[in-house]
Amino acid sequence: VSGFGPVALLGGGRLGCSLRLALEAAAVPIAVHWTRSPTTAEAARAEGFDVVSGPLPESIRDAAVLFLAVSDRALAPMAEELCRSGLVAREATVLHGSGASDLSVLAPLASSAHVASLHPLVSVASRRTPLSGAACAIEGADDETNHRVESLARTMGLVPLRFRGDRTRYHAAACIVGNFPQALMAAAVRLFEDAGIEASSAREALGPLLTSAARNAVERDGAAAFSGPIIRGDVEVVARHLEVLAAPSLVDIERLYRANSLVAVHTVDGPQRTAFEALLEGGR
Ligand SMILES: NC(=O)c1ccc[n+]([C@@H]2O[C@H](COP(=O)([O-])OP(=O)(O)OC[C@H]3O[C@@H](n4cnc5c(N)ncnc54)[C@H](OP(=O)(O)O)[C@@H]3O)[C@@H](O)[C@H]2O)c1
Repeated sequence: VSGFGPVALLGGGRLGCSLRLALEAAAVPIAVHWTRSPTTAEAARAEGFDVVSGPLPESIRDAAVLFLAVSDRALAPMAEELCRSGLVAREATVLHGSGASDLSVLAPLASSAHVASLHPLVSVASRRTPLSGAACAIEGADDETNHRVESLARTMGLVPLRFRGDRTRYHAAACIVGNFPQALMAAAVRLFEDAGIEASSAREALGPLLTSAARNAVERDGAAAFSGPIIRGDVEVVARHLEVLAAPSLVDIERLYRANSLVAVHTVDGPQRTAFEALLEGGR
């Protein structure tokens, strides 16, 4: 059994259930797992999670840690509701899992509990997404809370980090890496279809390319991570791509191509930098 008191999980969606798996794997006891709507509770139960719905359960009183794994917009109203309910034990730790929200959303509980956030840097697309091995950003109201939450994170197999600067920039970065690969894949599949390759074959063919590119991005730094025309200084190839992408149906992909290529040009800082900038900064 871990050194942590029982955890109440609020939210039966993707993060709530994935956290539960991580907590259970670490033998942290669960006081209760609650979600607001019966439909979500039913969906979570269908996936093997013991989740209750309805009014806030009395067993929240037994929790040393409350984790609010609810949508960002629901955090402030939930904190108010919990405060009004009187169910949060004095000195409990109350966490939210949002990268975009700071601790002000938990303000109603801040005078009686230790408030903090723990944002896993994982793209949690299902209720059974493994969190172990990932990093997570922690912000606690005070040092002692930070240490306690870092320890809970390590118990779940997460690697804690703290940011002291702009939280919104931090979250924009997490969204770029967590969601842009999917957008890149969707754009590439559309272009493959124009080249006569069916969507299912396109996904199969592009998958290993995306994985190898991701591996390069993770394992190598700066110019050494790149392949393709920009690192080779091949301005004509990029110019031809832009000509084709000028089609009216491809406006979004053309913009994506220009914006991504500019970041690549600045990162690579290689041959033909000025020519690439002149070419890519144009556009519609
Ligand atoms: N998915 C990710 O990749 C990821 C990664 C890191 C952090 N997060 C954070 O995790 C949190 C939850 O996201 P998710 O991906 O798990 O979303 P999700 O799967 O859509 O689940 C959303 C949860 O929020 C609850 N909820 C929505 N409105 C509510 C309200 N007004 N009152 C009470 N509960 C409400 C839902 O409960 P009912 O359906 O029962 O109403 C559900 O349990 C967010 O703060 C998000 O920023 C997500």
